[in-house]
Amino acid sequence: MLSSDETFVSPGGGRMDRESELAIVRRAYAKQIMAAAGVSDRRVEAAFAAVPREHFLGRGPWQVVRWGGGYVVTPSPNPVYLYDDVVVAIIPERHLNNGQPSLHAILIASATPRLGEHAVQIGAGTGYYTAILARLVGRAGRVTAIEFDPGLAERLAANLAGQRNVRIVEGDGARVAFDPADVIYVNAGATHPAASWLDRLAEGGRLIVPLTTNEGHRANEREPMDRRGAMFRIERRGNEYPARGICPAAFIPCESTRDEASEAALAAALQKGRWRLVTRLYRRDDVPDEDCWLRGPGWCLAYR
Ligand SMILES: C[S@@+](CC[C@H](N)C(=O)[O-])C[C@H]1O[C@@H](n2cnc3c(N)ncnc32)[C@H](O)[C@@H]1O
Repeated sequence: MLSSDETFVSPGGGRMDRESELAIVRRAYAKQIMAAAGVSDRRVEAAFAAVPREHFLGRGPWQVVRWGGGYVVTPSPNPVYLYDDVVVAIIPERHLNNGQPSLHAILIASATPRLGEHAVQIGAGTGYYTAILARLVGRAGRVTAIEFDPGLAERLAANLAGQRNVRIVEGDGARVAFDPADVIYVNAGATHPAASWLDRLAEGGRLIVPLTTNEGHRANEREPMDRRGAMFRIERRGNEYPARGICPAAFIPCESTRDEASEAALAAALQKGRWRLVTRLYRRDDVPDEDCWLRGPGWCLAYR
């Protein structure tokens, strides 16, 4: 129960300080997010339960996305409103948001970040999911968080200052050089996997990438979600790249990883559906057409 000053009052009448209250709310939120995601992963749940979302989203009240794509303002600056499966505005004029927690729970669990690993996040925004990744790789691991927008990169650096296992880079995540990565987590929509991401996957590394059409980031689209984009998990095993579709996806565009020809090919492939049948990425041109779901110069996503 919340009293008028929004201090939690227990049924017995005792008062609880804000931080203790939020720690409980965060634990309940983490459980709800995992249930909404259909994911059972105790480490991911613990990371969601530990990271304060309000630390990354500036002062409230906040604008949250409601059904239909519009924003509504939270009733007050109480951070409790952030502990729901809601998308929260970062730059509302650009429809640039802190993504939906259950979606990121699915994607981060698919990436399986382990203690001691190097995770690279491309499109880190203001850092909420960067902090979750940092917990999952632990102090022996590290996160390279790359953000293209200079203003956001500045906020990202401020929000994660003092976090010794995180390095912030302002720049284009398809062009910036980084050490071989166990996880590459792309948070903006590409029309094709950048060659640099495949090249920089360590042995056993996992690339999580949204492939999205030009309709993939707009609100109120007529296209069903799974015709606008899909998330893929691509793993490196020597020269082999086992791959699979994870879920439909809508993300704002990823700079420098979009071109017209790839977008047209992707839109046509998504119209066929069948992205869930993909099993492999090949980095060559001689895979027969009937085996390919989507093809680009020197690569394809294929059914076998
Ligand atoms: C949908 S926002 C996600 C922010 C963050 N992941 C979150 O959920 O809070 C995508 C971010 O990707 C960034 N971005 C787009 N293209 C990029 C690129 N090539 N390299 C690095 N960042 C990029 C955008 O500036 C934006 O901040």
